[in-house]
Amino acid sequence: MKRIGVLTSGGDAPGMNSAVRAVVRTAIFHGLEVVGVERGFSGLIKREIKEMSLSTVGDIVQRGGTILRTARSEKFRTPEGRTEAAETMKSLGIDGLVVIGGDGSFTGATIFSGEHGCKVVGIPGTIDNDIPCTDYTIGFDTCVNTVVDAINKIRDTATSHERTFIVECMGRHAGYIALQAGLAGGAESILLPEIPFSLEQVCEKLLRGHERGKLHSIILVAEGAGSAMDVGKYIKGKTGFDTRVTILGHIQRGGSPTAFDRVLASRMGAKAVEVLMAGENNKMIGIVAGEIKTFDIGEALSQKKTIDMEVYNLANILAI
Ligand code: F6P
Repeated sequence: MKRIGVLTSGGDAPGMNSAVRAVVRTAIFHGLEVVGVERGFSGLIKREIKEMSLSTVGDIVQRGGTILRTARSEKFRTPEGRTEAAETMKSLGIDGLVVIGGDGSFTGATIFSGEHGCKVVGIPGTIDNDIPCTDYTIGFDTCVNTVVDAINKIRDTATSHERTFIVECMGRHAGYIALQAGLAGGAESILLPEIPFSLEQVCEKLLRGHERGKLHSIILVAEGAGSAMDVGKYIKGKTGFDTRVTILGHIQRGGSPTAFDRVLASRMGAKAVEVLMAGENNKMIGIVAGEIKTFDIGEALSQKKTIDMEVYNLANILAI
């Protein structure tokens, strides 16, 4: 292994830059050359490559987004696209590739490796935290903190106006962001795609609270559980309460990464380089009970991550 590439793919996540920095600096430390591939797999197909040095990753550990840009490449889903990407790697002498992204990027990477024998290692980078074999993905912690900050602010105005707020957060098909932020933000109800819920019961709980003198509430809805607009309409219709809906949107993907995400990204980035140097292929890096570990990407993708019911039940108990 003499020369490796690094790319970021799929939705960006705070901490991706810290991971790129760790990959580049660890590789240089071990005497490897490193190139940055811009715009994910699309850049690998189009040869959008730049040489990386110690200074190209200076002053980025604290920056949100990704200096390498990112994309969801349709062409890489085709065998022709992957063949072009493999040609880029071969002709530019790139012996291994670090892919920082979510499950879609990992799926693409493993198919690519199987077809062309290119060595890949994945680093889980997504705010959704929906990748098995790792307790945390890069960007999740920052995102949860952003959502909690938003809930705090919404709570101020909810209290002043005695309103019920329905807040929608991201997570695609997963409810990890909503669960963590809902517990930390003291939401009265948390609606997740993984756990069946009844809007009627949500309204009954609101009415019970109202009778006790509780005049404001926050209902946190994971986007995968349904539309906050629909939930808001239903609650207004059933309770007659003054309701407002806030869809947090892409502010959840931006911002300076938390210290947790920076450390996680740095540890995972360094490990990814070591894995490639050891000649391993088709691995993903995970963190389990605080320890950085490696798993087969295929094994990870075949598993389903589950919601921690202990945390979910606790959130319900505390929001009684
Ligand atoms: O996967 C990250 C994520 O932010 C999801 O939570 C969300 O559903 C999706 O990406 C939004 O994608 P886009 O930025 O393409 O609208």
